[in-house]
Amino acid sequence: MAALICAAGSGSRAGEGLPKQYRLLDGRPILSASLDLFLNHPAVSLVATVIGADHRALYDAAAAPFAASETLLAPAIGGDSRQASVRAGLEALAEREIDIVLVHDAARPFASAALVDRAIASAFANGGAVPGVAVVDTICEVDRGGGRGATLDRERCRALQTPQAFDYALLRAAHAQAEGAGRADFTDDGALYAWAGHRVVVFEGETENVKLTTPEQFEVFARREAVETLLTLGDVRMGTGFDVHAFGPGDHVILGGVAVPHDFGLSGHSDADVVLHALTDAVLGALGDGDIGAHFPPSDPTWKGADSAKFMADAVARVRARGGVIAHLDVTVIGEAPKVGPHREAMRARIAEICGVALSRVGVKATTTEKLGFAGRREGLAAMASATIRLPLTEDLA
Ligand code: CTP
Ligand code: MG
Repeated sequence: MAALICAAGSGSRAGEGLPKQYRLLDGRPILSASLDLFLNHPAVSLVATVIGADHRALYDAAAAPFAASETLLAPAIGGDSRQASVRAGLEALAEREIDIVLVHDAARPFASAALVDRAIASAFANGGAVPGVAVVDTICEVDRGGGRGATLDRERCRALQTPQAFDYALLRAAHAQAEGAGRADFTDDGALYAWAGHRVVVFEGETENVKLTTPEQFEVFARREAVETLLTLGDVRMGTGFDVHAFGPGDHVILGGVAVPHDFGLSGHSDADVVLHALTDAVLGALGDGDIGAHFPPSDPTWKGADSAKFMADAVARVRARGGVIAHLDVTVIGEAPKVGPHREAMRARIAEICGVALSRVGVKATTTEKLGFAGRREGLAAMASATIRLPLTEDLA
């Protein structure tokens, strides 16, 4: 019993990005699900894949977890159509002794072992066997102008899936015969097998066994995965940060990574960005991982005049390294001048960019101190910040 997985398509209908069979689903390439299914099925003793000529590296990555398996053969190179790809895969198996071949689309990662069982049982009983599900919509023909044609009898229609099971020798011969007859238009092997004169039956498919085809399908899965990831990040933490720098000579200050014109500059060892320093400390505080001075000592000449975006990005990387995300950043600038309002959106955008979070997750505010204290006397600026982060739950909560 052999399985032949078709993975040589380009996924042109699925939109931008990797060929669809190599995109990630549940943390692994979509093709890996089919390799897993057949390599772990007790009745299947050979698994072969047809891949695109340019996809060798992608295939190797998808097959890496199964590289030690003796059941998995080296991939064959597919053709311009699915039919040509299946034919190439069948030819690559010619030296083997195979009774039944299961032809499956890599674009169907949800097929179950029970479906494979049914395909095998049906092929033994009937010859060719293809899974099909009842159609729930009314089905009609359309003419070239989009005009509605005849309604098909829904009761007599099935939407066909894979894996489809056939007598290997007969399917191989049928493919050769189709090629000889100049027929290159078969989109599924059941039709080709029947065309060659063999009996094909439809057995019960699975509604979950969808063929991933459109960008919308991938968006739904991406959103679901994002929500699932968020739900695993149940350790919600809040950290605070505070920073002060004195005014000195200069014509601008750096706030949230943005140069803001002013009559003075801010003095400090780095670029004296009070906003990013307070935010960096807030993130480090939420992690319980020291403070900005512990990670980037002012005594170290490396950080003289440094862009504080580096400190901020380092704190964010520490969150990511712990498997977490930044949920929200909020900062208040304290001082009489310069006015923050005109620069607020630029600061939010730059902070969001440095931290790799959505703009809606960054707050920037400002206040004076009613001319009281050092800020009120225009001797310098202060900033206070808070950061909310989410980390995976760990046992140390208890
Ligand atoms: N396939 C193949 N060789 C081809 C075309 C398709 O092996 N020349 C495979 C695909 O990789 C997929 C399966 O056949 O697993 C079903 O085809 P389809 O869903 O049409 O995939 P693509 O052809 O890749 O996508 P599209 O038609 O949107 O370009
Ligand atoms: Mg296609």
